[in-house]
Amino acid sequence: MWSNILSAVLAIAAIVTADPLLPSQDAWYDQPEDIASYAPGDLIRFRQIPADLQPFFSIPVEVTTKAAYQYLFRTTDSLGDPVAAVVTLLEPHNSDPTKLVGYQAPYDSASLDCSPSYTVQARTDNALVGFPLPKTNTSIDIPFIGAALNRGWWVLTTDYEGLEAQFTVGLQSGHATLDSMRVVLREGPKVGLSTDPRYALWGYSGGALASGWAAELQPTYAPELDFAGVAIGGLTPNVSSVLQTINKGANTGLAFSGIYGQAKAFQNLSDWLDQNLLPEKADKFWAAANGCLSEAKEVGSDEDMYSYFAKGEASFYDPEPQSIFKWSGQMGIRDTPTMPLFVYKAVADEISPVEDTDTLVKQYCAQGARIEYHRDWVGVHLTEAIAGSASAMHWISERLNGDAVDDGCRTKQVVLTELDPATILTLGEEVFAFLQTILGGMLG
Ligand SMILES: *[C@@H]1O[C@H](CO)[C@@H](O)[C@H](O)[C@H]1NC(C)=O
Ligand SMILES: *[C@@H]1O[C@H](CO)[C@@H](O)[C@H](O)[C@H]1NC(C)=O
Ligand SMILES: *[C@@H]1O[C@H](CO)[C@@H](O)[C@H](O)[C@H]1NC(C)=O
Repeated sequence: MWSNILSAVLAIAAIVTADPLLPSQDAWYDQPEDIASYAPGDLIRFRQIPADLQPFFSIPVEVTTKAAYQYLFRTTDSLGDPVAAVVTLLEPHNSDPTKLVGYQAPYDSASLDCSPSYTVQARTDNALVGFPLPKTNTSIDIPFIGAALNRGWWVLTTDYEGLEAQFTVGLQSGHATLDSMRVVLREGPKVGLSTDPRYALWGYSGGALASGWAAELQPTYAPELDFAGVAIGGLTPNVSSVLQTINKGANTGLAFSGIYGQAKAFQNLSDWLDQNLLPEKADKFWAAANGCLSEAKEVGSDEDMYSYFAKGEASFYDPEPQSIFKWSGQMGIRDTPTMPLFVYKAVADEISPVEDTDTLVKQYCAQGARIEYHRDWVGVHLTEAIAGSASAMHWISERLNGDAVDDGCRTKQVVLTELDPATILTLGEEVFAFLQTILGGMLG
């Protein structure tokens, strides 16, 4: 008996002290051979992980949950084939088990090792260098997850790109987001979640790609799910347009990981990449494409992506990339979302032009969607992630309270707080203090 207790204590000690394994080295992530025998949203594997999350800044704050769980579940890739993906479920202190938010993090990487199931977990290699893109695999989203947890909401965060890390791939990301909600609704009650919670989705940038595609795919792919709403900010309705917009800028590296993400999903794009990527540029391309967000940004910064391809810009007009980006990177060509939407976007967004979002919102509205759309005349892509988050959380809290939304659409021009991006880049604790204020005292 004592040895049982001792081994239990040792097992707990191991949970508390060991760093998590990188997903690429962790057999827990392996997709089972018999994946086809599972239905979408079925549980494949379950584990409890330590309740500590990785803090956002290298100042002594602790982000803890009451408990944290992970589920490997079955979902569906872009070709309709069965694949596995991972979701992490976080139970807050002071939990309200009737409220649940699916927060899709913008991990924006074609490497499995940058997935949120890994990056949210506390680690001892905490060599952070500050906002916004520490040179580590640390999630940039802990503040938003922390703010949601602080309200007593249960939070799930999905590795929606799947085990192949198919960054920017809409169908894969949308399906995994929906199936992660399915598995959590089914399995969550075993660990204390209500059997009938209200639930919503939230995501910014890459996280909005997953959440937005989920909203579009839901009426057909997961018609039994009854989302209270979806809040999406900094969205990228048209991936081709993003590629053009980010070229020769701070975010060009995301083009490389985005192209690689799509190439993993579609063989013809992979072949096109093999044929068109210039050998002398390949090392640099792969350094960005295989990295986490921070590495991709650093390596690709200010590069001319067209100079990496055999025919320059003309390579992008080949039928393969044209067909793939239209099919797999364009929102608005599937169902009209039936769940209410909150959309927030900086008018000066330098990653995805605001016109693309205007067009999508207009189209959805003409098709009967219910949307509150905030166009922020201050700031850019990164600042809007923070500035818009307070309104997004407010809107989500109304949905989780069961407040009705009005029919139809409303567009509001807003002017949210003065934020100088240069200040954000250089400040650490001050930004944290700012986040603390704007997000209502989270982590406090
Ligand atoms: C998406 O962007 C590309 C590149 O700017 C453009 O050619 C295409 O017409 C856009 N698609 C839609 C549906 O707006
Ligand atoms: C971060 O991810 C990369 C893969 O992109 C991996 O090689 C590296 O070991 C990871 N670093 C840490 C600190 O986990
Ligand atoms: C590439 O593959 C996709 C998926 O199979 C297909 O829809 C698309 O038409 C193909 N593109 C070309 C140019 O064959």
